[in-house]
Amino acid sequence: MAWIMLRIDYSIYGRLASSISMKTFSHDTQESCNCLEKTNLQLQAMTSIIQTSKGLGFTPYYKFENFWYPEHLLPVTLDMQATFKAQPSDIILATMMKSGTTWLKAIIFAVVNRHLYTNTHKNHPLLKSSPHDCFPFIHSIYEKNNQNQLDSMPSPRLLAVHVPFSHLPASITDSGCKVVYLCRNPKDAFVSLRHYLDKMKPVGCEMTPFDKAFEMFCQGVFPFGPFWDQMLEYWTESIKSPEKVLFLKYEDLKEDLAENIKKLAEFLGCSFSAEEVKRGVVEEIVQLCDFETMKNVKANKEGEHGALVRFKNSGFFRKGKIGDWKDHITPDMAERVDKIIEQKLLGYGLMF
Ligand code: A3P
Repeated sequence: MAWIMLRIDYSIYGRLASSISMKTFSHDTQESCNCLEKTNLQLQAMTSIIQTSKGLGFTPYYKFENFWYPEHLLPVTLDMQATFKAQPSDIILATMMKSGTTWLKAIIFAVVNRHLYTNTHKNHPLLKSSPHDCFPFIHSIYEKNNQNQLDSMPSPRLLAVHVPFSHLPASITDSGCKVVYLCRNPKDAFVSLRHYLDKMKPVGCEMTPFDKAFEMFCQGVFPFGPFWDQMLEYWTESIKSPEKVLFLKYEDLKEDLAENIKKLAEFLGCSFSAEEVKRGVVEEIVQLCDFETMKNVKANKEGEHGALVRFKNSGFFRKGKIGDWKDHITPDMAERVDKIIEQKLLGYGLMF
């Protein structure tokens, strides 16, 4: 019954999206505070069936249909679910947070646009701007209430999400557009997220202590998590419809990026010709999207992106390594996560 009430309230929820998002991060005027206080009360009323939890960093999370959302991203996601209209040519990048989204945005952008911009050209968009500007998140567009942007994007539209497969707008799953999914070893993603949230936290906000955050992580609290449940949804879908969903791992990209770029291009319907391979076009993309190259692009070092919340682009480039968790998570903690992953993924053919 309560669940049905929430579904009915969807449209109201959608309309509240931007103002609720503002509530979390904007404290500019008393007027906006009062208004946002009100919307927050409405949110609480409507979400009474949703479990809440302190997050891994500083922001609270809501549990909606088995997945955990950072407070400001739930309303925009619901709005997006209800109103986003996919086009069959869209390319949707779905990722688990801190799995290398920024990197794969750059790679896909370079692959898809290689006939427009030579990858070695000094004016290549990826050498001038952040991958997040070239390849926006749908939720950022909704946060800015700038849905018109979607109509003016060139085809194929490159759009990113963090939501689980079961929470994608129906138009994405029904339209035949391609979905590329990226995830990463959960221990590395957890450590990466902690560093990121610490760097991004507003002045005066306290981070959840590491041990507590780790405990929550094990219980499934992670943006758009439980981690294992989200990756399993995309994994299962990629097995069921390999022409529609491509499942990638950060570790595989690190191991052999050139091979994965070729696989990606084939999946997207823009395979590299033998002549392009011979000319070194794949290698050029590997270089263009190399960690050090990207980290040192001025826009990535000094720029910001985002709607109501502004993100320093530099926060998306830290170490870019496999296995950094070993410097932060004890062997006992690691064993605990490994057991959870093993249990969850048992029998599915997916391993970390
Ligand atoms: P670390 O914090 O472990 O260094 P996202 O873009 O999904 O937020 O993921 C961020 C993670 O991807 C960070 O991991 C970041 O350093 C890493 N990353 C960013 N660009 C990369 C690149 N070009 N190559 C490899 N890793 C990259």
